[in-house]
Amino acid sequence: MIDNIQRIREEARIRISSIEDLEELDRLRVHYLGKKGLITTILHQLKNLEDEKRRELGATINKAKDELESEISLRKNELRKLQIERELEKSQPIDVTLPGSVPLEAGSLHPITRVTHQMVNCLKRIGFSVVSGPEVELEYYNFEALNTPEHHPARDLQDTFYINKPVLLRSHTSPVQIRTMKSKQPPLQVLAVGKVYRSDYDVTHTPMFHQMEGLMVDHDISLADLKGLLGYFIKNIFGARPLRFRPSYFPFVEPGAEVDMQCVLCKGNGRECRMCSSTGWLEICGCGMVHPNVFKAVNYDPDRYTGLAFGMGIERIAMLKYGIEDLRSFFENDYRMLEQF
Ligand code: DAH
Repeated sequence: MIDNIQRIREEARIRISSIEDLEELDRLRVHYLGKKGLITTILHQLKNLEDEKRRELGATINKAKDELESEISLRKNELRKLQIERELEKSQPIDVTLPGSVPLEAGSLHPITRVTHQMVNCLKRIGFSVVSGPEVELEYYNFEALNTPEHHPARDLQDTFYINKPVLLRSHTSPVQIRTMKSKQPPLQVLAVGKVYRSDYDVTHTPMFHQMEGLMVDHDISLADLKGLLGYFIKNIFGARPLRFRPSYFPFVEPGAEVDMQCVLCKGNGRECRMCSSTGWLEICGCGMVHPNVFKAVNYDPDRYTGLAFGMGIERIAMLKYGIEDLRSFFENDYRMLEQF
């Protein structure tokens, strides 16, 4: 019996090492180790032997069985490796640097984000830093402290979104001036950028839009600083162009002005120009010297300090810069429009 086992064992070893095919190897495994395989059958026959003999033979057979199992699994791994190598040899080499078959879509920044970055960066270069305030504001910061009395038309319920008096959605970024001055002492040179809300909707107005506000306070800030500053700003965003300061009324500045830039389309000649309605000028921002009452509201001494302030709509700057005609197209999320930036 032992001889018989050794013979089977030898024969199996030779067959395993010469096999070249995975399926064949599996058939061989079944032939020896399967339920009705040679080794399994011999194991079953042990039942009929007496104890001592059975133990002796059992050990030999189990050893042979273990060895066969591990030889088969070794050979199986070898054959698998060979198979992969053969397949790789047959196939074309892969160039992993080739572009994929589905083009990747590159995203881009929203035009409002882009101009905002440009506007803020150009002013950061001359010393401004960015501050922020809440969009849900109190009447006090949005109006009162900005020298805007109760009867002022801007406080009309038709223009401002009230949540619950005195809580409202800020109608401009100017309340950030008050919040900043209340928490810091001069000298100040800050920008506030963000969303503002007004009850308005047509080709040039949306209920939400963005503003950028600037504020500078020190001992001797003058109108000349304001002019120089805005000239620098416009030159940076649109290239050098003539500006004009037109006196205008904003309750929180004195004197106050609106700044116009020569029309980028008709270059100021105004002949049948739809961009500037044939005036030759484009309105850019509101500005002025901080009103003494505003300083009083924040406990700054108006005899010691002067300040300049300006505020502008970011959508308007973007429309002029990119020649966009309908303000609403910024917010309709039409890919074809947004993809151009
Ligand atoms: N807050 C004004 C508005 O929304 C814009 C403005 C005008 C801001 C003059 C200023 C300023 O800081 O000095 O219409």
